[in-house]
Amino acid sequence: MLNLNSYEAVNWNRPSSELANVFWKQQTKQYWLESEVAVSKDILKWKSFEHQDTYRKVLGGLTLLDTIQTNIGMNQISEHITDLQEKAVLTLFGAMEAIHARSYSYIFTTLCSNQEIDEVFEWIKSNPYLQYKASKISEQYQGIVDKVTLWKAMFSSVLLESFLFYSGFFYPLYLAGQGMLKNSAEIISLILRDEALHGVAVGYFAQNVFKEFDENTQTELKLWGYQFLLDLYDNEMKYTEELYSDIGLSAEVKKYVRYNANKALMNVGFDKMFDDENIDPIVMNGIRTDSVTHDFFSQKGNSYTIAKVKAITDETFRF
Ligand SMILES: [Fe+2]
Ligand SMILES: [Fe+2]
Repeated sequence: MLNLNSYEAVNWNRPSSELANVFWKQQTKQYWLESEVAVSKDILKWKSFEHQDTYRKVLGGLTLLDTIQTNIGMNQISEHITDLQEKAVLTLFGAMEAIHARSYSYIFTTLCSNQEIDEVFEWIKSNPYLQYKASKISEQYQGIVDKVTLWKAMFSSVLLESFLFYSGFFYPLYLAGQGMLKNSAEIISLILRDEALHGVAVGYFAQNVFKEFDENTQTELKLWGYQFLLDLYDNEMKYTEELYSDIGLSAEVKKYVRYNANKALMNVGFDKMFDDENIDPIVMNGIRTDSVTHDFFSQKGNSYTIAKVKAITDETFRF
């Protein structure tokens, strides 16, 4: 009997999406678990660290974003795209998001008391800037009804992966560059490496969806995209101010946020909107400078350099 709604099986032997296999292989190649990193080696330094509160809030904010990306982002986008290989790639990414969200808890468990942990999770629920970005992005994830809204959700996902994480990533990387809490920063480096891949991959899938639109729709979506980014950028500036002004780092973090906003735009094939600025090379590279237990693909540097964003080319996919 003919079943008109027959279920189709994913067939990796016949490529259906040009780069799905490349993204899959890269994600599996860089697979990791939080238990592989010896965060307990940070305990001694943590005890005398004077900005514990900022650090906890930074990790708290990151946990919220990774939770949304696990439970809503990757699921919703995967649900609404049709290519079975791309669906599989997004599901694999989703699993990594769950590992990321759990990793922050691993750092909390190792360094903080139960009361401190409970307090930061309460703070997450009440911080207006964190809640604002969570709701703006989730709204797009939950509003997918057609190709246009699918593209908007993909665009939002790239903003989260390539832009909104970085006000948080900055601090652990910056501290590690000064020899502080280096093992916790290694977890952040591993997360950052995944998010870099996710931003490029979802950005690439989004560009393929975008190409199918007529010129008018493309113009409208471009305008919508820049406005959406600017709205989140304003919010991000306030969040950065609240988190970092007391410790004198807000100007540095804001530069890093702008750099990554440009990167998000380039990932979806749009022109960047902020000027190039000097970023601390340790933070830029997102790596530890010694005793690295994982092999990072980031470039290295040891002096202040001009941070330049590159457009996606064939080179981008040669991981
Ligand atoms: Fe993540
Ligand atoms: Fe991600």
